[in-house]
Amino acid sequence: MDILITGGAGFIGSNLALYLQKMADNITVVDDFSKGVYKNLEGFEGDVVVADISKENMDWEHYLDFEPDYIFHEASNTDTTYPDDKEMLRSNIEGFRNVLELAINSQAKVIYASSASVYGKGTIPMSENSQREPKNAYAFSKYILENMAKKYVENYDLECVGLRYFNVYGPRESFKGKVASMIYQLALQMKEGKRPKIFEFGEQFRDQIYIKDAVEANVRAMEAPSGVYNVGTGKPTSFNKIVEVLNKVLGTNLEPDYIKNPYTQFYQDQTLADVSLAASKMGFVAKYDIESGIEDYMRWLGFV
Ligand SMILES: NC(=O)c1ccc[n+]([C@@H]2O[C@H](COP(=O)([O-])OP(=O)(O)OC[C@H]3O[C@@H](n4cnc5c(N)ncnc54)[C@H](O)[C@@H]3O)[C@@H](O)[C@H]2O)c1
Repeated sequence: MDILITGGAGFIGSNLALYLQKMADNITVVDDFSKGVYKNLEGFEGDVVVADISKENMDWEHYLDFEPDYIFHEASNTDTTYPDDKEMLRSNIEGFRNVLELAINSQAKVIYASSASVYGKGTIPMSENSQREPKNAYAFSKYILENMAKKYVENYDLECVGLRYFNVYGPRESFKGKVASMIYQLALQMKEGKRPKIFEFGEQFRDQIYIKDAVEANVRAMEAPSGVYNVGTGKPTSFNKIVEVLNKVLGTNLEPDYIKNPYTQFYQDQTLADVSLAASKMGFVAKYDIESGIEDYMRWLGFV
């Protein structure tokens, strides 16, 4: 089995690369290292192509000496606060167009990253047939990716599975700095004995999914029918709950320090995946709840 992973030096891509290499004959990561770091790929046995996949006339043949059976597309500008909408849209959309062209030529199945951000401030639980209301350029780019995938499935007989990740956290995200998961940020503060800063008054909630489950969803997607699927736990975790679990796991007793939320306009106060379609069509059900996910992660970080 021959596998290509775009964005493979990033958070989700590197975890995927390290997991999938054991089942691959050929495995190549492509990343422009605009964000991802080589350290994420320590232990990776495959090839690494250093290239911007969004450039015009991307010459895949120059870089690849095999035709992939599966393309896992994780490459993206993932900074939702990125100031240049045009460049955000260009790189995310044109990067995916190049991936789809490669998939047609090699008859590869595409498993691509979408995002729960396509739901905007939609009602919960968010199900795949809910209205999509992207609220920023990043979310809009994911919305367009889904439209493109649908068109290629219909017109070119391509197999394409889109995964709408909710909030993913876990090993190999630390390089993301301020856009790393909230769980990571709070753990860092609390490890230093500081009170965790969360937005007033901590009752907002998100569907937090552990990276090992996100990897598992990708593996399940290899056998799933074309479509778009939520990747979440189906369980809400409030910000206060994250602090409570971190206190327990880290052995601390720190009260939240509530601060004003400066991002009210686009902020998703609550996200929650309807996980029934992913369960029935992909056989995917998250194994980690918030307690076991945080515990596993803190051990990996060496915090406990
Ligand atoms: N992490 C999450 O919670 C989450 C949630 C929803 C959706 N997603 C999506 O999942 C995917 C992976 O997310 P992540 O958290 O691993 O992000 P990440 O930023 O860690 O990884 C993205 C990688 O893509 C690379 N990249 C960006 N533009 C590129 C280009 N034009 N050519 C080549 N490489 C390029 C970056 O260098 C980086 O290594 C993204 O598409 C993201 O939008 C992630």
